[in-house]
Amino acid sequence: MRDNLAKLGGPMVRDKPAPFRAAMGKAERQAVLDVLAHYEQAQQDPPYEGFFQRNFETSFAEKMGGGFARAVSSGSVSCFVAVRALRLPVGSEVIVPGVTDSGSIFAIIEAGLTPVIVDTMPNNYNTNWEEIEAGITQQTSAVFAVHMAGEPLDIATISVNAKLKNLKLIEDCSQAPFARVCPKQCDCKLTMCQGSLVGMFGDVSAYSTMYRKSLHTGGSGGVVYTNNEQISNAVIEESDRGRPKWSKDYRSGDPGHATVSALNFNTDEFSCAIGSASLSRLDDTIRRRREFLFSLEVALQKFKPYFELMRHSRGQSPFFIPLLVGDEFKTRKLEIAEMMQAEGVSLLPSFQNIVADWEITKKLNLKVIKSSNAESMKARSFNLFLNENFGEREINEIVLSLEKILGHLRTK
Ligand SMILES: Cc1ncc(COP(=O)(O)O)c(C=O)c1O
Repeated sequence: MRDNLAKLGGPMVRDKPAPFRAAMGKAERQAVLDVLAHYEQAQQDPPYEGFFQRNFETSFAEKMGGGFARAVSSGSVSCFVAVRALRLPVGSEVIVPGVTDSGSIFAIIEAGLTPVIVDTMPNNYNTNWEEIEAGITQQTSAVFAVHMAGEPLDIATISVNAKLKNLKLIEDCSQAPFARVCPKQCDCKLTMCQGSLVGMFGDVSAYSTMYRKSLHTGGSGGVVYTNNEQISNAVIEESDRGRPKWSKDYRSGDPGHATVSALNFNTDEFSCAIGSASLSRLDDTIRRRREFLFSLEVALQKFKPYFELMRHSRGQSPFFIPLLVGDEFKTRKLEIAEMMQAEGVSLLPSFQNIVADWEITKKLNLKVIKSSNAESMKARSFNLFLNENFGEREINEIVLSLEKILGHLRTK
């Protein structure tokens, strides 16, 4: 094959930017106008916990099949409030996977608890019960499970085992909102998985709804979900200055009426109205992302064992797509990612969410049980970006780029 790599001066496979997601679509923009109109008509300024927040929370809980949802100001806050609401013993240990956002780790620390970092599965950014178990001690009070890259963990197994060990379970669903746990362990040919939703297995679950997430609230935001009323009451208290607003006896207007010391993590009406619009098209967002992912998987079959997607299930709520480089060229992963980028494919060459690698992890002397699988995954993979507007054209471009690159690698 002629070596016409864009990196070496050849023509790019794609010379235009990737399709724009337009997260602030028609419905989201209309939602902002609706808030203005609603409060103008009511002759009132948009308050905390107003009409649009209640609407968003109710729709979210309904979509989960019941339970209680609380919208808050960010995803990190949702993790923090979720952890705090469990009222775990101060200083106790919380198991957390070694590939996540810093918001998950710092939420545990800021709640006065000790994170214990465990590894992922081999060739995967998700952890499993085996890795989690390796971190459990007499001091462990909870497991903070993160569904990475849109792919659900084997959360059913994690949940059963956590219960057996009397540990609380927090699910961080930020990267996989409304993903479903495939009952056939990923072998089914269903386009729309019928498995249980992530977020239903834990005592409480947290969601970031920042602007890049499939479910978003405009700029910043988060949701805490639980189907336990008592935990929901604690979530309400922890998300707004300890106020027991759930109680019939709550004395609104008396700031001294608080059950615990907590900060104000309230969101606002505009964010929640945008959240409702985003939620109402989330099924479509997930379906379109899945279609892209599953078609890409088929198109990339021919590149095995040189290139392969991270194992994923039919229930995924795709967020990004790790692409693994096989043994023969794995030491050239960064070079390959850069060649792909030069061809115009949108991707992240090196994922920085490996907790053990962080400067702050060393500075705080955080306990890391093991990180070799996460390190090896980072070393041999890069993350392809996607959004709901990616389709056939982007798949062809990835295929063409990989063909060019493989041709080049084989001649060098
Ligand atoms: C898994 C995970 N947890 C927590 C967070 C923190 O969310 P936020 O950026 O909204 O604070 C993020 C996202 O950034 C995330 O991906």
